[in-house]
Parts: sequence; C-alpha cells; structure tokens
Amino acid sequence: MAEIYWDNVSKRFGSVTAVDHLTLTAHDQEFLVLLGPSGCGKTTTLRMAAGLEDATEGRISVGGRDATHLEPKDRDLAMVFQNYALYPHMTVFENLAFGLRLRKTPAADIQRLVHSAAAQLGLEPLLQRRPSALSGGQRQRVALGRALVRQPKAFLMDEPLSNLDATLRAQTRLQLKVLHRQLAATIVYVTHDQTEAMTLASRIVVMRDGVVQQVDTPEAIYDRPANQFVASFLGTPGMNLVPAQLTRTSGTLSAAIGTQRLELPADSARRLERAAGRSVVLGIRPEHLHVGAPEGQGTNPMSLRARVRLVEPMGHETMVHVDLDHDVQLTARSIHHWSASPGSLVSLSLDTRHLHAFDPETEVACEAR
Ligand SMILES: Nc1ncnc2c1ncn2[C@@H]1O[C@H](COP(=O)(O)OP(=O)(O)OP(=O)(O)O)[C@@H](O)[C@H]1O
Ligand SMILES: [Mg+2]
Repeated sequence: MAEIYWDNVSKRFGSVTAVDHLTLTAHDQEFLVLLGPSGCGKTTTLRMAAGLEDATEGRISVGGRDATHLEPKDRDLAMVFQNYALYPHMTVFENLAFGLRLRKTPAADIQRLVHSAAAQLGLEPLLQRRPSALSGGQRQRVALGRALVRQPKAFLMDEPLSNLDATLRAQTRLQLKVLHRQLAATIVYVTHDQTEAMTLASRIVVMRDGVVQQVDTPEAIYDRPANQFVASFLGTPGMNLVPAQLTRTSGTLSAAIGTQRLELPADSARRLERAAGRSVVLGIRPEHLHVGAPEGQGTNPMSLRARVRLVEPMGHETMVHVDLDHDVQLTARSIHHWSASPGSLVSLSLDTRHLHAFDPETEVACEAR
C-alpha cells in the first residue's frame, strides 16, 4: 500500500477553481475522508489522484513516486465510483475476474484472487449469479470486489454507498471499516455524509469551495473545529452560533448575549481569554445546552432565559428549539423526553467546557487550543 501526496495542487475549469492550492497527504494505510458540501472539489481531488483529470498546477505523487503525468493505468490505484457499472451479461465471478483477464493474469491466480475478494465481502454464495439477480448492496459489494482483486497501491472511493438505502448503507459502511483493517489499505474516500466521515475516517479533510478548511481526526474536527464553517457543517443539527461580546469585569469573564449576561467559569474563561474585550461568535453544540425549568430573573448568572419555539421528539432524543430574547434561535438536544408548549419560558444552562468562540470577521476559532 502507498501514500498519496497532493503538492500544492490546483484545478481550474475555465473560470471555476474547483481545487485551490491543495497540499495533502493520504498516509500509508490511512482511511482519509474528503468531506464537504456539493461542489467543494472532492471528486476533482480524487480524479486528479487517479489521473482522470490533469492538475492545472502542482504535483501528485503515489508511493513516493511522481505521478503527475502518469497514465491512470500506471498509477496502480483502484477507483470505486458512486455509479458502479457491472457487466450485466456476466456472472459475479466474471465481473470480478474481468480486469484480471484483461491483464493476462494466469487462471490459477484469477481463481485465488476472486475467491479471496469474494470471501472478504461475503460474495461467495453469489459468484454464479448475474447482477440483475442481486440487491443494491450486493452489487455495491461486487463493485468493491472488482477494486479489491486488483490489489492496488491504494483505493479511491467516490461516494460508493450513496445509492444504497439507509440500512444497507450502514451495513456496508461497517463492512468497509472491517475491510480497511483486514487489508491495511490506504483509502481515500469522498462523501458529503458526515456520519460516514465520522465513523470511517482515520482523518477527515473538510473542504469548502476548493479550499481545505481543516484536516484532523474525527474527534478533533468535532470537538475543536478550526472555523465556523467546520463547526456548523458537522453535527445534526450543527453547532449553535450566537453573536456576543466578551468582557472581563473584576476577574470574571462574561459574555453579553443580547440583553443577557452569562458568567463563564474559570476553565472556559481561560480558553476564551484571548477574545476578552472583543465581539465574537459563540458556538455551542446542541448536546451541550440543557433546558430546564425557568428560574427567576437573573438568579443564575450561569444560565440564560429562553422561550420554547418548537419541540421535536425523535424517539431516542428530543430537539428543543428555543429563542433568546433578541430573536437568536438555539437548539438543545436532550436525551430525555421533553414536553413544553411553544411560548413557555425555560432556562438554558450551557456546558461551558464545550463553548467555542469565533472571530466574527474571519470566522476562525479564537480560543486557545
Ligand atoms: N468537467 C468540469 N467542467 C467544468 N466544471 C467542473 C467540471 N468538473 C467539476 N466542475 C466544477 O468544479 C467544482 C468542483 O466539482 P466536484 O465535482 O469536484 O465537487 P464535489 O465536491 O465532488 O461535489 P458533489 O458532492 O456534488 O459530488 C464544481 O463547481 C463543479 O461545477
Ligand atoms: Mg463529487
């Protein structure tokens, strides 16, 4: 297996910059996930690695070797697409064997490679069927199997699960994760599904408009987003963002949020110290906001008053959407069943250890890390 390195790579299509000065390494045996909204340049990044698209500038190397001008077939990378096309008139076995036959692989090796890939993907009972007699998930596994039998240096996968229904998606996702462990393979995987990214990735690359926003482990991306975009892109719903003014008075750091004032305890004050005296955008995830019975006016400097807008029961949790007094909307996630009628007053306590602050101009995180 091999490392893939994008060295200051850009791709322009006419006036559109699809990928903008990307410097990135997919390390050997890493499961690297490219995540971002539609049009942010994920597929283009992958296709340039595969050699299906020429970089406008920059270089690409595979396994330490300059591959910038290599033909796709000489890069030894296997690509799995969203719209996998299986040969309908061939059996699963023949579909898996096809690429090997093209490369004049000896028959005994074909037998061994196909059976080994089929075993890894649970396809053995299906080897004599044709694609039309397979479920969507089974077909997707055949497409994966075709990549597998090639024993490539690395796998490039572009939303390979997006054609599957939710249940199959979850199953196949699990299988991919197991497969990655077994093969110790380098996988670069494109998705706009944050659950896939969080569950599969060794590291996530968050992209926006062709520009990398953050590269880090799933935990770090979620817990310490580098900017507002990353903060709101991950999490369902995303992080709550509220304009505030941070002030320090007689040793206490507090946040003025609309007409309310929230005192920050020492640990979070230390993290946000750099932003003292400034306007910021505070960020807090729905699971770190707790809704409770209303308290008297200003009795608790650690909590905020809010009014319920809407309660969404989801079975295992409840989303409580509330308004602060100046039309700022927040969402709290509660694992408890919560019922309150719209308009009723509640108190919001914040788990301030998980409070973030962003620069209102640059949107970059301004907390100490
Ligand atoms: N062949 C092309 N010609 C012109 N523009 C292109 C071409 N391919 C991609 N683009 C543009 O480049 C940008 C990045 O496209 P890309 O397909 O890499 O996005 P993506 O992140 O994979 O999006 P999606 O999640 O929708 O698949 C988009 O603005 C797209 O319209
Ligand atoms: Mg794409």
